[in-house]
Amino acid sequence: MSHSDVLKAVEGAVTSSGDARAMMDAVVEILKTRVPQYTWVGIYLLEGDELVLGPYRGKPSPHTRIPLGRGICGAAATEKATIIVDDVNADPRYLACSIETKSEIVVPIMRGNDVLGEIDIDSDREAAFTGADRELLERVAAMIATTID
Ligand code: SME
Repeated sequence: MSHSDVLKAVEGAVTSSGDARAMMDAVVEILKTRVPQYTWVGIYLLEGDELVLGPYRGKPSPHTRIPLGRGICGAAATEKATIIVDDVNADPRYLACSIETKSEIVVPIMRGNDVLGEIDIDSDREAAFTGADRELLERVAAMIATTID
């Protein structure tokens, strides 16, 4: 499925889901099922100075609470910018979730200058994430930001 079709499906979920939790659950479901190279898809929400795992699809992660200073997730929230890692095993910040993971993208969910959370996606393929993934996921993050507190 093309990224613009994925975006349309996400748009539908964001506008029709009853509450924020159901909306985020629908969004991770769409991303996981419609983009084959997205092996693990999750949303973390910022609570104080920790990122707390919300809805996700894929194997359970040991990293359900990530302090802001840790991991690629912590780095993206601190830098307030998307991070793409082509080879997670070559990145000292990486917190391993699955032995099969080769690459990762983390996209902050921002409102103005505040980080509300982030979209975290792992792939079993090396260098799976391109500029097109970044564009798709930054648009998804902006949609999520409009519907959560
Ligand atoms: N790899 C992330 C941790 C979360 S798991 O991938 C689900 C990181 O380095 O922050």
